[in-house]
Amino acid sequence: MTLTVLSLETSCDETAVAVLRLEAGKPQVIASLVASQVLEHAMWGGVVPEIASRRHLEALPGLIQGALEESGESLASMAAVAATVTPGLAGALMVGSVTGRTLARLHGLPFLGIHHLEAHLASVDLSENSPSLPYLVLLASGGHTELIKVSSDRSFKRMGRSHDDAAGEAFDKVARLLGLPYPGGPSIEAAAVSGDRKRFVLPKGRVSRPEGGVYPYDFSFSGLKTAMLRKVKLLGLEGEPLPVDDLAASFQEVVAEVLVERSLKCAFDTGLKKLVMVGGVAANKRLREMMRQRAFKEQIEVHLAPRAFCTDNAAMVGAAALKRLELGTTYSSYELGVSPRWSLEDVEALYRLPPPF
Ligand code: KG4
Ligand code: ZN
Repeated sequence: MTLTVLSLETSCDETAVAVLRLEAGKPQVIASLVASQVLEHAMWGGVVPEIASRRHLEALPGLIQGALEESGESLASMAAVAATVTPGLAGALMVGSVTGRTLARLHGLPFLGIHHLEAHLASVDLSENSPSLPYLVLLASGGHTELIKVSSDRSFKRMGRSHDDAAGEAFDKVARLLGLPYPGGPSIEAAAVSGDRKRFVLPKGRVSRPEGGVYPYDFSFSGLKTAMLRKVKLLGLEGEPLPVDDLAASFQEVVAEVLVERSLKCAFDTGLKKLVMVGGVAANKRLREMMRQRAFKEQIEVHLAPRAFCTDNAAMVGAAALKRLELGTTYSSYELGVSPRWSLEDVEALYRLPPPF
């Protein structure tokens, strides 16, 4: 039996629909459409939740039709409909979730509510050489920066996290400081190409433990952001044009170093020989290069999500759904709602009765 799923993603500012099929145990992307709202949010310097929900509502029907047409499939031939239900902007999540549940119910199909971080994790299964369990994952996006251990039984354990801004959020805020457009990651990456990454020395934020010492696998980006602000102000006082490229390159370098060093330390200490990198920030070429080089030296195998599936998309939601179907997960209730926050460690609750939200 071939398993085919329709998947929807509306947790933030990308409306996305995909059709995936499980072929010889591997998820194949048959169609993947993304309608990005970034240009509209860029006018405000960040995501405006109310606008996001409205745009999802407008874009979703056309994208569903488009993805089905492109795949040559009909809803009736789907094994299930999947949609992101947590975490994210509540109003935005609601659009995808209600649409998914309605389509599933109308066509008598099972519904799978998907955790957004599990979807990001599944994006690595869309690479040619997907890793076998167990492994450590660095998930770096606009909302999260976490180190997650995925055990052989597919259970998740958070090993590290950011105590303030997520890495992507730091890129977005620093870009604004440098006068670069939203989203900050791609615009800092572009400016950094011609910059000197060694010109400015910047702090690698550490998080102190109340009992002394530091949390070895945790992150803090707020001090780095403040250091950037100070540099920009000082340079402004000197009256010279701001060296945006050098500032961008130095910032990108220190963020990459922090992410790589702490991930490798965590992998090393936990004895995990495989490291996976996913999430919007994982699209960063300098970070990808540094992770590959340093992991090679430590004899740790690196698996990077394909760049096209690092930032939010529905293919990764479909990959997570197919994995669950393959493993025989029971479906979600049609009554399952949405939640702005939910721990990945408690993800199994999305498939239990009564639903947790
Ligand atoms: O995974 P994602 O699309 O959405 C969330 O789940 O948050 O991540 C978006 C974040 C934004 O903060 C964006 O600036 C960052 O990922 N990002 C990047 C790059 N592309 C996107 N950061 C660094 N380098 C990039 N090339
Ligand atoms: Zn995301």
